[in-house]
Amino acid sequence: MLSASLPGGTWALGDLTVTRFGYGAMQLAGPGVMGPPADRDSALAVLREAVDLGITHIDTSNAYGPRITNQLIRAALHPYPESLHIVTKVGAIRDPQGGWPPARKPEDLRRSVGENLETLGLEALDLVNLRLGNAQGPQSGSLAEPFEALVELQRHGLIRHLGVSNATAEQVAEAQAIAPIVCVQNLYNLAYRQDDKLIDTLAEEGIAYVPFFPLGGFSPLQSSALSAVAARLAATPMSVALAWLLRRSPNILLIPGTSSAAHLRENVVGAGLSLSDSDLDELDRFPGGNSDATGTPAG
Ligand SMILES: NC(=O)c1ccc[n+]([C@@H]2O[C@H](COP(=O)([O-])OP(=O)(O)OC[C@H]3O[C@@H](n4cnc5c(N)ncnc54)[C@H](OP(=O)(O)O)[C@@H]3O)[C@@H](O)[C@H]2O)c1
Repeated sequence: MLSASLPGGTWALGDLTVTRFGYGAMQLAGPGVMGPPADRDSALAVLREAVDLGITHIDTSNAYGPRITNQLIRAALHPYPESLHIVTKVGAIRDPQGGWPPARKPEDLRRSVGENLETLGLEALDLVNLRLGNAQGPQSGSLAEPFEALVELQRHGLIRHLGVSNATAEQVAEAQAIAPIVCVQNLYNLAYRQDDKLIDTLAEEGIAYVPFFPLGGFSPLQSSALSAVAARLAATPMSVALAWLLRRSPNILLIPGTSSAAHLRENVVGAGLSLSDSDLDELDRFPGGNSDATGTPAG
């Protein structure tokens, strides 16, 4: 399948063109996002399938595994096709219990960028998101010190573009006052719509919004409205959830995760589902802000 025929078409992250249908590689690391994966060969196959399907946006982090997901990406796809853009994030590490403690001092970020370059086998990272807050969600507070540390690395040519993740609207604005960003990656899906206003503002500014947990993360999205629309369209709830995101705003990029090549193919087809206005009205009755639907927060 050619990129142009993937549902949603393409989007420009700065000077990088990516398919709006991307792939989130977190779940490849293994249970609890701590490696190794149960089946390394099928993890490699999913990554190759993503590229074969025409996907040009892969989301990762050196914290996944840790290191394992990046190593899998490199093993499966290096040397990378010119069209492929790998987006990573820094600002959290893993502890031995599998937790995600913040690591946002300038020296932590320099180390983390260096580790991403090494594990991915790159000389510069296309896009680095500064992950803020904690596993419970965004937290208010200035991002100036860590964000300026990344801007410095960008000046040295180690990073092409910057973004923020798990961020409040105030932190997004603070980052933009320091340096241009090309995306915001926050928790958002049919059940959890706290960023509605932010998405619209970013759309006006031409900045991408990349929802993490688009399918509900560790616990799949469930609701009678979603099931009813899916049944009427003879589609799966996952397909409806992805198609809804693509319809929600042109600046939304999808990074659904899966450790299964069959699910990946299903999701590509499903995201192309056509939703009518009455489907959208019905989905708007989905109980928003239900944090139970988001599962265990992570990376
Ligand atoms: N910035 C951050 O703080 C942050 C936090 C979390 C995640 N992320 C990023 O967001 C990406 C997406 O998040 P996510 O993968 O955790 O959650 P997700 O995309 O909402 O859901 C992934 C789950 O859905 C299942 N799934 C996918 N397609 C399916 C299908 N067709 N049928 C049945 N089940 C299906 C997967 O299971 P199978 O493996 O069995 O398909 C997996 O358990 C991650 O990969 C990561 O890159 C970022």
